[in-house]
Parts: sequence; C-alpha cells; structure tokens
Amino acid sequence: MESFNQIKSYAAENNVNLDKLSNELIGWKNGLIIYRFALEEINTKLKILNEEFQFIHNHNPIEHIKSRIKDPKGIMLKLQRKGLEINIDNAKKHIHDIAGVRITCSFVSNIYDIYHMLKGQSDIKIIKVKDYIKNPKPNGYKSLHLIIKIPVFLSNGVEEVSVEVQIRTIAMDFWASLEHKIYYKFDDGVPEHLLVELKEAADAAHELDLKMKRIKDRVDIYQTVGKD
Ligand code: GTP
Ligand code: MG
Repeated sequence: MESFNQIKSYAAENNVNLDKLSNELIGWKNGLIIYRFALEEINTKLKILNEEFQFIHNHNPIEHIKSRIKDPKGIMLKLQRKGLEINIDNAKKHIHDIAGVRITCSFVSNIYDIYHMLKGQSDIKIIKVKDYIKNPKPNGYKSLHLIIKIPVFLSNGVEEVSVEVQIRTIAMDFWASLEHKIYYKFDDGVPEHLLVELKEAADAAHELDLKMKRIKDRVDIYQTVGKD
C-alpha cells in the first residue's frame, strides 16, 4: 500500500479530486459488503445440506468449499472489458461472479445432488446453468457452473444477490487448478505440446472419476448385501 503522501502527490499530478475518490472508494466498499453476507448465507445452506445428506446417505457429498469475493480492481477491469461505465450499480447489475463459491465433491453424482438440492430451495433462484461436465470445454475443462440469486435481509429491506457457484469433483479441481496456473505463466499462449498433455490429463481425470465411482458402487453393494 502506497503511503498517504504518495497518493496525495499522485492525485495532485493527475488532477484527481481526493474527496471524490475517497467517496467513490467508500461507495464500492459499502456496495460490496452485501456479497460477503450472500456468501455467508450460501455457506450455511451448504453446510446444512451436507450434514443432512451425511445423516441420510451416510457420506458427505461435499469434500470442501472455497469462497471468494472478486477484488474491486478485477470488477473494474471486467466492466471495462464489457464496455460499461465503471460504477458500483453497473457492477451489481452486470457482473455475476463478484461472489463466488467453489464446491468440491468426491463423485460426479454428488455434483448433481447438490445442484438439485439448491434448485429445490424456494428462496434460491437459478439464473443460469452451464454444464461443462456434459459439454466439456475443448481444452478439457469440466465443472457445473450456476449463477444463482439469493436474498439477503438487511435492516432496510431485502436484496437479491448474484453468486457464481462452481461444482466439480476433486479430479476436475486438480486439473483446473494446474491448467489455471499454466495459463497464467504464458503471456503469448500455452505451447501446443502442453495443451495436448493437458487434454490427456483431463481425460485421465475423467477415467479416475469413472473408476472411483465403480469402486464406490461395489462398496455400496457389499455394505447392503455382501455381509450376509
Ligand atoms: P468469465 O468472464 O471468466 O467469468 O467467463 P464466463 O462468463 O464465460 O463464465 P464461465 O462460466 O465460462 O467461467 C467462469 C469461471 O469458470 C472462470 O472465471 C474460471 O474460474 C472458471 N473456468 C472457466 N473455464 C475455465 C478453464 O478453461 N480453465 C480453468 N482452470 N477454469 C475455467
Ligand atoms: Mg469469472
């Protein structure tokens, strides 16, 4: 963080009104707090669903959950990319991934279990579904993406807040995090041989998901009939 004097001299050199800038920053900070509340709501919902599922089916559908709020700079860049004026109202209206939740599951079936459980909640609106599991991206990327709206109750009323939910298996997540790192290492595009290897790794991750499911199905059968 630059020192206050540095900011002041930058403002003087660039003819920036410090009061206006500081009001704008406070406006952004206040505008974004609602996304933190939305994440708390969705995290509580997921925790309850996970525990109830464990109670009924004897296993946890969710391995782990990560959530994040996009930083103001990222939001501003995205507004700029979309050719929109940079202000908090446009951010709330046009950027749907300011709040993001990533849910990692053991098995592919759990992904759809969670999707249907969320879909069944009367206060959640599913705005958009992108199924990159049934339709993987050409690079091999797989995940189920949802844009949902969740109500947040404040002292002066209720606000519907957009949250991006990504649901994937551990194998899909492993692949996506490595691909993400590689993608950002090469400014001029990832070399072809690495793209080929990444696609092969995505296929191997898919095979692993299938294999783990076959093993789990056998264990389930053993647990219900095998002990007789
Ligand atoms: P964004 O402008 O990035 O939000 O893209 P979009 O509006 O087309 O949304 P999409 O649902 O396709 O992707 C949203 C998010 O999914 C991205 O921000 C990433 O976190 C993740 N994602 C999508 N495609 C890939 C991919 O090929 N590799 C990895 N590692 N992550 C991806
Ligand atoms: Mg995004």
